[in-house]
Amino acid sequence: MKKIILSVIVAGLAVGIVLLYLGRPIPVYPSAMPAHTPDAKNGAVLFTAGGCLSCHKPAEDNKTADKSLPSGGAALKTPIGTFYPPNLTPDNKTGIGKWKTWEFVSAMKNGVSPDMRHYLPAFPYTSYAAMTVPDIIDIHAYLKTLKPVASPSRSADIPVAWLLRLGVGVWKLMAMGDGTYQEDSSQSATWNRGAYLVNGPGHCGECHTPRNFMMIWQMDKYMAGGPHPEGGKDKVPSLRGLIERKKYKDAKDLVSAFQFGEAFGYEDMSSGGMGSVQTNLSKLPESDLQAIAVYLTSLK
Ligand code: HEC
Ligand code: HEC
Repeated sequence: MKKIILSVIVAGLAVGIVLLYLGRPIPVYPSAMPAHTPDAKNGAVLFTAGGCLSCHKPAEDNKTADKSLPSGGAALKTPIGTFYPPNLTPDNKTGIGKWKTWEFVSAMKNGVSPDMRHYLPAFPYTSYAAMTVPDIIDIHAYLKTLKPVASPSRSADIPVAWLLRLGVGVWKLMAMGDGTYQEDSSQSATWNRGAYLVNGPGHCGECHTPRNFMMIWQMDKYMAGGPHPEGGKDKVPSLRGLIERKKYKDAKDLVSAFQFGEAFGYEDMSSGGMGSVQTNLSKLPESDLQAIAVYLTSLK
């Protein structure tokens, strides 16, 4: 009997070690960086589409902070505890001023920090990983144009965060999608642009796609809505069949909803974080909004 228990424990430990090894933090190595001339203007558009400021903004009660800069500190409540998304301005000490491009790409694509730890998926890198490396380099280039703000990062109020950071690598093995978005050649360029913006920078599915008990997207219910991932009583509506269910007249109507929101009588666009998403969307080029609307209205 003792022998059996012992071998079960040894087998369990061995499986654990193999899983931790497979789920170890792996960066995007400098040698994998493509030759690319950074375009900070494109980066600014993607920064807006990505809603980076909505999470990385300064705390509400920080009266002196410039609210237009992602200097971090605002609380982000989640079911596992409160995060304070860090300073993204190019401050050398408290921001990401000293980050190399490959370190920034590693954070966005693999959810891995410069000191080789896993980020927790409250930072929606599961979606950002679908972005192309040149687009991520452009976001980095845009961030470098911002005014550096000295704002020390505050660590998350999460019990056993270190343990979660260790274990989340195993979760990533199952939860990370297929990497960079692959164009569907049977669809138009507009549809593909929309699919890219929705599934990559826009990270719409992080709220609109329900998850299973392991917090992994239920792809058979892609964009079908469900409970809010940040907890609370908010429900997230489905983005499927928006025309068929008469939510919007057509794709053009959906573009207007993104541009004008509830102020113009479009309903269900303000609560549960959707208000800031809509504000960000309203700042995007109209061609990008059309692309998003064409893609979403194709989901039956
Ligand atoms: C839903 C909220 C949310 C959004 C949207 C978001 N982030 Fe974050 N981000 C976080 C959180 C939370 C962390 C910290 C994660 C952790 O501690 O494991 C983080 C961490 C980071 C880090 C690591 C910083 C450091 O000092 O280690 C980078 C870089 C980053 N985010 C970039 C971005 C960019 C660029 C965007 C927009 C494309 C973005 N984030 C959008 C929540 C968010
Ligand atoms: C932080 C979570 C979150 C993210 C991210 C998010 N949404 Fe939403 N969305 C919601 C919630 C919650 C509502 C319902 C708001 C309400 O009822 O006021 C909503 C409502 C909507 C509606 C209205 C649906 C209806 O039934 O009329 C549309 C359209 C929409 N979202 C599109 C998007 C798109 C496009 C993106 C990505 C660019 C996105 N959402 C990202 C949470 C989110």
